[in-house]
Amino acid sequence: MQTKIGVGLLGLGTVGAGVANILLTPDSRHPLVSEIQIIRVAVRDLNRPRSVEIERNILTTNPQEVVDDPNVQVVVEMMGGIEPARTLIMRAISSGKSVVTANKALIARHGEEIAIAAAAAGVYVLIEAAVGGGIPIIEPLKQSLGGNRITKVSGIINGTTNYILSRMSQEEIGYEEVLQTAKELGYAESDPTADVEGLDAADKIAILSNLAFGGPINRSAIPTEGIAQLQRRDVDFAKQLGYVIKLVAIAERTTLSKQQEKSLPVAVHVRPTLIPLTHPLAGVNGVNNAILIEGDPIGEVMFFGPGAGSGPTASAVVADILNIAGIYQVMHSGGDLDPLLAANSWRDCHLVNQSEICQKNYVRFTAQDTPGVIGRIGSHFGDREVSIQSIVQFNASDQGAEIVVITHKVRQNQMQKALEAIKALPEIKELVSHLGCL
Ligand code: NAP
Ligand code: HSE
Repeated sequence: MQTKIGVGLLGLGTVGAGVANILLTPDSRHPLVSEIQIIRVAVRDLNRPRSVEIERNILTTNPQEVVDDPNVQVVVEMMGGIEPARTLIMRAISSGKSVVTANKALIARHGEEIAIAAAAAGVYVLIEAAVGGGIPIIEPLKQSLGGNRITKVSGIINGTTNYILSRMSQEEIGYEEVLQTAKELGYAESDPTADVEGLDAADKIAILSNLAFGGPINRSAIPTEGIAQLQRRDVDFAKQLGYVIKLVAIAERTTLSKQQEKSLPVAVHVRPTLIPLTHPLAGVNGVNNAILIEGDPIGEVMFFGPGAGSGPTASAVVADILNIAGIYQVMHSGGDLDPLLAANSWRDCHLVNQSEICQKNYVRFTAQDTPGVIGRIGSHFGDREVSIQSIVQFNASDQGAEIVVITHKVRQNQMQKALEAIKALPEIKELVSHLGCL
């Protein structure tokens, strides 16, 4: 008898392989992970080499077999595209199976139809991985921020274009070359036009807008401009003026009326945008995404993290699988609390001794300004295997000098031994400060 919660995977590519990898290595993860069993997996090509070991006999090239397998309770769609993904999801729902999907293109266009079907069938369709890769943003919008009146959602929500723009602004590197790397790293869509033309970001802002403001918006009417036409000269001029150019998506309600409007006006668009270097989005580089939510009464919150790639996206997909598994456990146990919401301890933890804590350090000494003092400080650190990131002397004068050292990561007992030895040097007057450093 099958006691575990059976999942069927549609797709074993960048995201699918990441998900399988988590589910097949449950050690030291939440115990619910070991309650999940991969029953069947659909791929296009049975002979393609995979980055994860899957028993050959559970692979199929017929995705319908996955959906229809009686032991599959949760269907996890990671194929991409509109069809056959849409039909397969609707089939899973009508068979009473919950669905997890990473497919933003599908949800942005058919999310309403899917949600209505899921509600009618009494099943869940969870989409955490559809926006922001590994960043938890869907569940926070649905749950944690539920008490707010959301006024604006904005941010960088395409990892590929952010990776391209970051590298182009930091290095002398061409557009085509960086795009190729983004594809190799698994960031780009199977047709990267969706990334560089802003269509992927438009899909995602449509989904966020729906969640934030409570109603679907017409995806095809979102004004969208990508980075394909962006000129290097504009990137360089922006930099000289103290700005950085990012592909930014914005959805903002244009009325602050507290009345329950029948239809809420929302301004939504995606376009390359200059961001002042002091703005929190300006430092969001590489494949990272960041989403700013403004609401009443919370003010502004920012969600930041890896916006694409196998591991981060799989993290979000597995979170959804676990949410559904938790609900199934409650249903089948007849009264126990949801294991994720209850958050009971599931193992012992103990504090390591402070001397074992490993950290970078900042230290400031006052010292006599004599020849060789920096060398002797360096030797004492070196003798205790404390590696120095930087050492600088300030304010040297007859009265002495201030010497500031930043170390690489080191265990605190080694650091303490080195400091004791340095404090004993005749040239050292005082160890004035010892701080942690990130
Ligand atoms: P991918 O690497 O191209 O993987 C797609 C998988 O689906 C492959 O294993 C492919 O089989 C299988 N597949 C496609 N069509 C199929 C069909 N008709 N029948 C059976 N199997 C089929 O794509 P991905 O990057 O993992 O993306 C998957 C989904 O996640 C997309 O909706 C994407 O937008 C979304 N997503 C991706 C990321 C990311 O960083 N990559 C992040 C968030 C969301 P083969 O392996 O045999 O070709
Ligand atoms: N192609 C997408 C991106 C994947 O680069 O952001 C994550 O949704």
